[in-house]
Amino acid sequence: MWKPANITITNMSTSERNPASPLDVEALARLANEFFAAFPDNPAPAVPGRSPTGLLKPAVGADSLESPGGQVSAPFMPAVPDLPGEGELRSLLAAAMPSVPQFTEIPAGAAGPSFYFLEYARPSQAGVQVPGWEAAPLQFNGGTLPFDVNRIRRDFPILEERVNGHPLVWLDNAATTQKPQAVIDRLKQFYEHENSNIHRAAHELAARATDAYEAAREKVRGFLNASSVREIVFVRGATEAINLVAQSWGKQFIGKDDEIVIAWLEHHANIVPWQQLAEEKGARLKVIPVDDSGQLVMEEYGKLLGPQTKLVSVSQVSNALGTITPIGQVIQMAHAAGAKALVDGAQAVSHMGVDVQALDADWYVFSGHKVFAPTGIGVLYGKEALLNEAPPWQGGGNMIRNVSFERTLYQQAPARFEAGTGNIADAVGLGAAIDYVTRIGMQTISEYEHQLLLYATRLLQEVPGLKLIGAVPDKAGVLSFVLDGHKTEEVGSALNQEGIAVRAGHHCAQPILRRFGVESTVRPSLALYNTCADIDALIAALMKLTSRRPIF
Ligand code: ALA
Repeated sequence: MWKPANITITNMSTSERNPASPLDVEALARLANEFFAAFPDNPAPAVPGRSPTGLLKPAVGADSLESPGGQVSAPFMPAVPDLPGEGELRSLLAAAMPSVPQFTEIPAGAAGPSFYFLEYARPSQAGVQVPGWEAAPLQFNGGTLPFDVNRIRRDFPILEERVNGHPLVWLDNAATTQKPQAVIDRLKQFYEHENSNIHRAAHELAARATDAYEAAREKVRGFLNASSVREIVFVRGATEAINLVAQSWGKQFIGKDDEIVIAWLEHHANIVPWQQLAEEKGARLKVIPVDDSGQLVMEEYGKLLGPQTKLVSVSQVSNALGTITPIGQVIQMAHAAGAKALVDGAQAVSHMGVDVQALDADWYVFSGHKVFAPTGIGVLYGKEALLNEAPPWQGGGNMIRNVSFERTLYQQAPARFEAGTGNIADAVGLGAAIDYVTRIGMQTISEYEHQLLLYATRLLQEVPGLKLIGAVPDKAGVLSFVLDGHKTEEVGSALNQEGIAVRAGHHCAQPILRRFGVESTVRPSLALYNTCADIDALIAALMKLTSRRPIF
């Protein structure tokens, strides 16, 4: 019978901990390995100290996945109750990390956890079915499929890469996400069987390409719950979408002494275009302050709004801190003041469901590559009337109804803003990425990632000298930190040596980092395919760096 040894992952404070052995990663890894060895479909990992999926098996075994109507479990709830040592390992870890909830059983009939950030999300299309959670089962091979991070990981071929002799641990998802095979295959299919320019030719491949492109637009419409495909404009990414609004609607409707409100935590892409516009028009830029936790100070926001406010443009999730802003309230207050509201959703779309109608956003922008789609494709959602009252920002083919040397008549949206040949194949790839996350369910993804974020937050706090930047409870995807005595680029490079990819730098968000007194941070960021094992590897590498001795 498997017996757990003493585990020294504890909730001791840094000062109480034995400095020679701050975190007994080795013992923990050995236990996890022994535990995983009990799963026939889940051999013990080859790399010492790394389990393939995390400290606990995160979902049900493969057999039950394939049983139509079989039992469905929440993430981290092992479906096989009698595995040797499972109960002991569970209770040891639960006792060691009482604030990490992922090991908590949800009794049948009990309400599931409530997630503050799902307030504006649509009803789930989730694959997890837990009593009390509003989740519709996902049909897969005629059966009901729960969230299984192992299965998800197998969909992403790049996760098999090795870097510096280690399995790749991709924790740079806020910069870009990896692509599932379904997206890669869809691009291949497009170029092998459908490639053509769209709209302009009456041949078979033009029809195929046009159908694929417009089908992708419909998928985006569904993904955002927009009311019409006429509200979905394909652009290069969130940056281009914001520039488009600034250069078209902004130029037309923002004038001298008007005010544009942004937040302190914005990415440069949601600062610079407004600054440029304000400079050109003689308008003013006002900034919502952020408190020490990294959240918007809503009281101060209220004071910034007034008759001159024409536009409020705020991120739903901060790329540097992970803060989830109270975006619904931001929009409501903007509207009450008679202003329009743009939401930068670049860091939100891969982490939570979005409903632009429930939000009542006037514009919502995101980049495809942050949500498992190719680079170079993104989306501007805009209310139809707003899109059509703004002038086009680029002229050329595709966006016109009629051209003469005297005068050009423009198309209505979305063609109005899609001058020239667009990124057809990658739009189709975005459609495949949306299908992919929709099959899993955005609510399921949110819930899983939230557990992972709590797990990572708890363990990062155990690293001596590590200071998290941005400690608001309403967070998604991002953990930003600095480490005493180590430059951020040094930490990034040490992690890279262990095969762990994070971003170290200013994350194109200098004002918010300076608000916290730093010029750069180390920023691990999460996606649906990350596991507790990824976090364990990160912690082990940080421990190794801080102790200046090998852990394994
Ligand atoms: N905006 C991207 C990031 O936050 C590039 O890393």
